[in-house]
Parts: sequence; C-alpha cells; structure tokens
Amino acid sequence: MVWKCIILAFILLVLRTVILDAFPGIYWTAPSTTLAFQASLRKDKYLEVPQIAWGLNNQKIAFARACLTARLLNRTLLMPSLSTSLSYKEVELLQPIAFDKIFQFERFNSICNGFVQLGRYSDLLNQTKPFELQKGSGRKWTKERDLYQLEQCKEDSSDKFEVIRIVGKNPFLWHDHWPVTDYAKIFECLSFVEEIEEEAARVISKIREAGAEARSKTFAHGRKLVTSGSSIQSVPYIAVHMRVEKDWMIHCKKLERRLNINQMCSSKAEITERVANIHPLQKPIVVYLAVADSLLEDNSILSGWQQGLLPFDKKKLGVWDIYKKYPYLIQSAIDYEVCLRADVFVGNSFSTFSSLVVLGRTLKLMKIGVTRSCGVETGLASYAYNIIGKHSGPQSWITDLSASSLHSISYGTNNISCEVKLLQSNWQWRI
Ligand SMILES: *[C@@H]1O[C@H](CO)[C@@H](O)[C@H](O)[C@H]1NC(C)=O
Ligand SMILES: *[C@@H]1O[C@H](CO)[C@@H](O)[C@H](O)[C@H]1NC(C)=O
Ligand SMILES: *[C@@H]1O[C@H](CO)[C@@H](O)[C@H](O)[C@H]1NC(C)=O
Repeated sequence: MVWKCIILAFILLVLRTVILDAFPGIYWTAPSTTLAFQASLRKDKYLEVPQIAWGLNNQKIAFARACLTARLLNRTLLMPSLSTSLSYKEVELLQPIAFDKIFQFERFNSICNGFVQLGRYSDLLNQTKPFELQKGSGRKWTKERDLYQLEQCKEDSSDKFEVIRIVGKNPFLWHDHWPVTDYAKIFECLSFVEEIEEEAARVISKIREAGAEARSKTFAHGRKLVTSGSSIQSVPYIAVHMRVEKDWMIHCKKLERRLNINQMCSSKAEITERVANIHPLQKPIVVYLAVADSLLEDNSILSGWQQGLLPFDKKKLGVWDIYKKYPYLIQSAIDYEVCLRADVFVGNSFSTFSSLVVLGRTLKLMKIGVTRSCGVETGLASYAYNIIGKHSGPQSWITDLSASSLHSISYGTNNISCEVKLLQSNWQWRI
C-alpha cells in the first residue's frame, strides 16, 4: 500500500512537470502567485476617493488613478462607487453603483496582489475620524504641486490617520503621475462580473451566427452549410466604434478648430469607405456597429457599406433586448467586450473608449508573445478610421506602452501607428 502511494505520487509529479512544460500558460496554483510583485501594501491604512463618474472608460481610468494614488501613499483603496449614468455635470444624476457590481472584487485583489489593493468599508476600525485632503484645482495647481502634496501626506501627521479621504473632483480629472504600464497592470486585474461576460458572449454568438449564415449563402449557393458550435466560434467579425452622433460631431468640430488639427471627426461616408479598404478582409463579413443609442433610430448608418460588408447594429442583430435591461454603464461594458474580442476593431483615436479597447487588444498581443506586429495575422488588428493609412484604409493602431503618461489615451491623439515596439522584458504578467 505504501509503495503504491509513493509510486502514484511520483507519477503525478512527473505528469505535472511534463504538462507544465508543454503548456506554460497553465498554472496549478492561484493566479496571484504568478505575478512578480513582492512588495506589500499596508492593510490598516486606507484611501477614500470621491464617486467616479462619466463614460465607462473614463471611469476605468479614474479608478486606476485612484488605485495608483493609494499605492503611492502605501494604502488600501476603499472600494469606490462608480456611476451607472453617463452624466457628469449634474451630481444628483450620477446614480452610484458599487464597484463589485461591475467588476470582480476578489479576482482584482488576487491578481493585483502586492501592486494595489481594494478594501471594504466594513474592514475599517473607525478608531480615528478620516483626514480630509482637499485636492487643489485651477491653472496654478500644477502636476508638481499635486505630487508634492501627495508625498507630504506620507510624511506628516496625516499618515497616522486610518483613512485619508480625498475631497474634490472625480479622479479622472486629477493630475497623472504614472506611466502607461502601471495603468495597464490595473486594467489587467479588472474583469467584469460573470453576468456581464455572459451577456457579451451572447451578443458575440449572435454576430458570428449572422456571419455564418451569410457565408453559407455565398459559398453553398443557398444550401445550408453544417455549422456546428465550434465552427461558428471561428467566424470572424469587425467591430466599428462609430462616433457620428450629433453632439459628438459638434464637440469634435470645436476641438478640431481649437487644437488646429483636422483628423478628429470623420463622417459616416469616410468611415464606410476606409473600412472597405482594410486589407485583407475575408468577405462576406459582419460589421458590428457599436454606436450611441441615439443612432439606433437612424437607419442610415446601416446603408452605404460596400458589398460583402454586412452592417449590424444592436436592433438589426436582435440584441437590443439584452442591452435594454441595463443602465448605460453595463451597456457600455458589453460593447467594450464585443469590441475587445473582435477580429478587426476600428475606432476613433480621439475616443477614450476606442483607445482603451486598443490598449486591451495590445495587451492581448503581447501576452501571446507578439512583439512587433499590427495584429493582422493573429486576428487582433486594430485601426483608427479618423486617420488615413495604407491603401486609403484606416491607420493601423497599437498602443505605445512605453508612453510616460496616459494623457494621449485619455484625451486622444493623432500620432498613432503600429510601429512602436511592445515592451516584452518589462512585462511579467502571465494570466
Ligand atoms: C508599505 O509599507 C510596508 C510597511 O511599512 C512596507 O513593508 C512596504 O514595502 C510598503 N510598500 C510600498 C509599496 O511602499
Ligand atoms: C466603520 O464605519 C463604516 C462606515 O461608516 C462601517 O461600514 C463599518 O462597519 C465600521 N466598522 C466598525 C468596525 O465599526
Ligand atoms: C509620436 O509617437 C512616437 C511613438 O510613440 C513618439 O516617439 C513621437 O515623439 C511622437 N511624435 C509626436 C509629434 O508627438
């Protein structure tokens, strides 16, 4: 019996080694052990930040900035409130929602362990009243002053307080003191809750089914090709984050004039033409249009596409019922996932949403070991339709992960390409 056990244990050990060598991406232990952060953060000191607001991706950036501020102060961030509405100015319309209703809390702490950390209000001992830290504002409040204020907090008496509460503006509007890679690490720890992931998977299935049907019509001359579940999973689709609604156009034209650039706004005609010039595309292919709700009433966005490009919005796809159940924030989260997983993504380089989708896709490229590529071979190509690239198509686009701040991603840029080299050596994430 003892011998049997020893032999069995030995066989298991050998098998484990063999399997681990063959599939280095598989881990036997919890994901947190695969990360390279040795340092720890204090678990008895907390940072509290104001409610996070605005678009989904502005909220993600604001959240990451709050995490990085907490890290700078060597504190745990008290789980902040997000906002389900898109509103920003009218505080009473912000509609708070707990972070863990949108993102997985435990998973966040497990993956980001040692880098940043989230805590709950129920963890507080309430031994002291919070120390209120007023962030400055206005032109005189420079980045240097802001950093100096934070550094001071670590040294003077405020460090003794259990909670430092930052009062003032939404963290999206705080000064940025961190490189893109720090933000990227935090985004990697953020996963939507299961319900949102499942809804996104349903939408993606619908898109692929529509593509499979069009293909069987084209290639089988009306005969239905056998389309099993796995073959549907490989039907490619394009996602276009199309910003052509009226308020965007007004805002965008104003900005173009102020910044003296002319590559920000693209009309519907320009977008359809540039997408048609992407090379190579296996037509017929579904083009999923991620558009603002106001455009769902406007059927003209579905017309004018080149033959072989099959435009679908939420209504035409029959998934409006899925979206309709949810507030703005969750609708946007589903669209984000649909764009992130598309075989080709086309967005606007002046949109925070598009920029974060491309950042997510760039991280995916890096994780599969691609260091210098536009992602075309891997089914992760991204483009910006507002800038003309090769063959009069849209400009190919990956995120420059070596950038020293998130500014160009938060506020947009026309300086994009896929020539930048991805950082391989500095990246120790394997999830
Ligand atoms: C935070 O403080 C703890 C205890 O003082 C220390 O061990 C740790 O290295 C600090 N972490 C960071 C990121 O500074
Ligand atoms: C401390 O206060 C918070 C918020 O007011 C509360 O949720 C928490 O339960 C309190 N903790 C203790 C140990 O009383
Ligand atoms: C454009 O981006 C590249 C790479 O990110 C950078 O090296 C270059 O300085 C930027 N050019 C301008 C004009 O900002």
